[in-house]
Amino acid sequence: MTDHGQSPRGFDRRGFLAAGGALGSAAFLQGLASAQQRTVHRAPASTAWQRIELDLVATSGTVQIRAGTPTNVYRYTGTLQPGSLGTLANIPGSHLGPILFARTGDKLVTRLDNQLPEDHIVHFHGLDVPPAMDGHPMDQVPPGGTFEYHFRIVNRAGTYWFHPHTDMLTAEPVYAGRAGLLIVSDDEEQAVPLPRGAYDIPLVIQDRKFDANNQFVYTPNAIEGFLGDRVLVNGFENFTISAATRVYRFRVINGSQSRIYKLVWSDGTPIVVIGSEGGLLGAPVTLPYLMLSPGERVELWADFRSKPVGTQITLRTQVFLGAGGTNGQTPFDVAFVSIDRAEPETLVLPPVLSAYTPFNPTSAVNYGNPRVFPITMLMGTGFVLNGALFQMSAVAPNEIVKRGDLEIIEITNTGAPSVAHPIHFHGRHFQVLSRTNVSGNPSYYAAVSAGFADHGWKDTVLVWPGERVQILMRYSQYTGLFLYHCHNLVHEDMGMMRNYRIDP
Ligand code: C2O
Ligand code: CU
Ligand code: CU
Repeated sequence: MTDHGQSPRGFDRRGFLAAGGALGSAAFLQGLASAQQRTVHRAPASTAWQRIELDLVATSGTVQIRAGTPTNVYRYTGTLQPGSLGTLANIPGSHLGPILFARTGDKLVTRLDNQLPEDHIVHFHGLDVPPAMDGHPMDQVPPGGTFEYHFRIVNRAGTYWFHPHTDMLTAEPVYAGRAGLLIVSDDEEQAVPLPRGAYDIPLVIQDRKFDANNQFVYTPNAIEGFLGDRVLVNGFENFTISAATRVYRFRVINGSQSRIYKLVWSDGTPIVVIGSEGGLLGAPVTLPYLMLSPGERVELWADFRSKPVGTQITLRTQVFLGAGGTNGQTPFDVAFVSIDRAEPETLVLPPVLSAYTPFNPTSAVNYGNPRVFPITMLMGTGFVLNGALFQMSAVAPNEIVKRGDLEIIEITNTGAPSVAHPIHFHGRHFQVLSRTNVSGNPSYYAAVSAGFADHGWKDTVLVWPGERVQILMRYSQYTGLFLYHCHNLVHEDMGMMRNYRIDP
């Protein structure tokens, strides 16, 4: 395997200038709120399927992230074909985006146009789609190439995202700025009284490092991956929300390469989780802090109604030890909420959020005999899953499963150097069944284990050093090759990824 990027990449500056210039968080939020308000007027998904045609251009540009020289970035620009339903929000002044709002049942036709001088393919993370539509690296297109995705959105309402999935070229293009969101709604979600419009805000958390000329510096290593020295939210430094004394719904996405966050509110308010990767939980969950690893998403309920105008509250990440390298060892202020105005609020935290039925482990076809995928280290290469490096189209005998089967999968992190790995499965969402700390440092573990984001429908699970984690997954109805991998994107690019094959 070739090694991409021990040194910073000179981003292609070709011709593209981000619209808008120095617009900060305020413009981001305004644009988003109006995009969501337009979405409200759509016909319900149940009437007939709606067609969304999205042109997605993988390109480069510059954005004004910091004062002084603009930063060269990679990005996607999106345009909806006339007559398309759905709503697209392009984010002025951010490398991130676009954000597509759609509904379950919509037919999404995406035309990817690769305008960069390297191979490229996009993966819609979290969607249950046929393998040919999943953005597998075997489908990557050359510079100037195009790829057309056409699939029905069958997933329930939730916060999904899309990003590159090119062979050995995922981490760096995501780092350089390429990632967007797909926010799906459905009738069940619409019926729940939750904050909407300007009170429903995605927070994409990504750490970065800048050089003296404001350019991104990328310095990955095989153990911890890449850790930046500052945290951006939605592409902005010091992301500040000018808030009312209302309830907010924050869709928090860890879009970082490798950094794991231990999130808390600065005023000691507990974290109230109402959703995870696959949408709303059955009921809200209150945590003292929240561990969020790359690829994981949560929806938070943040109630500011009792805060006096003038209050400042910070979403912070706290120090924790044992995740590997220096991951977790630096505290950061992630986002700032400034309570600027009084507004009446009538929403109450719903005791029931959605119909959620946990799988019964005894119904699994392999109950008592889980499918085990160990995390180990292959000397001279790096971390691997199931004992082997990624192979483009091969599967091992224990990576062949049957369509629609409910299975218990066990991921063990007991035979490799002590590094935490967020493990992501393409295809269907799963439930976390159990965690056992077999050999991890007990005091490190005690400082993180109350905050694992294990609730509801998951597509990525954090596996702590020394742990054995069991998940329950019902395989997709689609047959063929699907990926599972570490969502530490540096590990993924180094081969910590495998195929599994769903047979009829
Ligand atoms: Cu978000 Cu296969 O990844
Ligand atoms: Cu994925
Ligand atoms: Cu990993």
